[in-house]
Amino acid sequence: MSRKARAAICRELNKPVVVEEITVEAPKRGEVTVKLGACGVCHSDLSATNGTLQMQLPLILGHEAAGEVVEVGEGVASLAVGDRVVSSFIYMCGECRFCVGGRPVLCLEQGKAVTTLPDGSVRTSDASGKPLSIFSGCGVMAEYATMHVDNLVKIDAKIPFDHAALVGCAVTTGVGAVFNTARVAPGSSVAVFGCGGVGLNVIQGARIAGAGRIIAIDTLEPKVSLAREFGATETLVLKPGEDPTKALKKMTGGGPDYAFECVGSGELAAIAYKAIRRGGLAVVVGVAKPGDSTAVRTMTLPFEEKTLTGSYFGSCVPRIDFPRMLALYQGGKLKLDELITRRYSIEEAPQAFADLASGKNARGVIVF
Ligand SMILES: NC(=O)c1ccc[n+]([C@@H]2O[C@H](COP(=O)([O-])OP(=O)(O)OC[C@H]3O[C@@H](n4cnc5c(N)ncnc54)[C@H](O)[C@@H]3O)[C@@H](O)[C@H]2O)c1
Ligand SMILES: [Zn+2]
Ligand SMILES: [Zn+2]
Repeated sequence: MSRKARAAICRELNKPVVVEEITVEAPKRGEVTVKLGACGVCHSDLSATNGTLQMQLPLILGHEAAGEVVEVGEGVASLAVGDRVVSSFIYMCGECRFCVGGRPVLCLEQGKAVTTLPDGSVRTSDASGKPLSIFSGCGVMAEYATMHVDNLVKIDAKIPFDHAALVGCAVTTGVGAVFNTARVAPGSSVAVFGCGGVGLNVIQGARIAGAGRIIAIDTLEPKVSLAREFGATETLVLKPGEDPTKALKKMTGGGPDYAFECVGSGELAAIAYKAIRRGGLAVVVGVAKPGDSTAVRTMTLPFEEKTLTGSYFGSCVPRIDFPRMLALYQGGKLKLDELITRRYSIEEAPQAFADLASGKNARGVIVF
């Protein structure tokens, strides 16, 4: 059946998001309709509203959510009405060398359906009947969403929606960057640039991985204080434009073993690379503007054997890593509730975006 839903939409770049009533059509073959319980507000959603991430407008925001299946389309065997699910924002064709090789975040067909369902169409329209795009196959900042079954992962029904939602991006991105991309070794030293929803999860991932020293870096003091609760052992508060390389080299006797850039700036990526020790690994997690670039002193590559790499969605395999993250939570190792600074109604979505932009939240979560 078709359903009415309130949704947070970006109609115009650099304007506040608007909340509107939309129509969500019934699922077609391979699709599922979900009644959302909660949706986190990620910096990537904000980036879609200011053009850093270029997406077709008007766009239903949201890619970090949990909810309950209310209808399944033809051919869907893995999910049933009543199942609880978390959204996954990567496109997986299932057949390319990367999908087959267990690296779906690198799927060769990824660019095929950035703001639609995999078949290139949408099940969402506004009050005048015009189609609405969906953020990365999700568009889950809405009371209902019809999604492809490959963009959903079934979870344990005991986990509250607001906690589970965070696994749909911030947690898997941050903890996954530590576990899957960098494979941080116990006892090592880690520097983390940017202590928002993603950076805090790099920090807790590093703590769980047994890092010896975790240095949290941000321009806002409240963020690094919070970082201590997630496992940071030392903190640095930067003035705008300040380069902490010297301080990091001094603190760690030559540079940290790993550095994670969780802001989205080529300048910070260069600093992260510069700061790491010989043979160290710098990982860019933040998503910078399309025209941004970074630089390394070429000579350091052979003589210092340093690595600069990136991590997309924590190099995860959603059906393996989401349950893994939630098992860490159920085992008391992973903090989820502590990530949520504030809960908002869908009508308060514009406020949630303003609070994210001004750095007020670790994570703001919209609850339905
Ligand atoms: N790679 C991925 O798959 C992936 C997934 C999700 C988000 N992201 C990206 O990760 C980045 C972080 O996302 P988030 O949701 O945590 O954002 P956020 O806004 O919650 O956090 C960003 C933090 O960086 C801090 N900051 C800003 N400028 C800084 C500077 N010069 N030095 C140090 N700290 C600085 C801010 O104060 C804030 O605490 C964004 O670019 C987002 O698009 C990437
Ligand atoms: Zn995100
Ligand atoms: Zn593929």
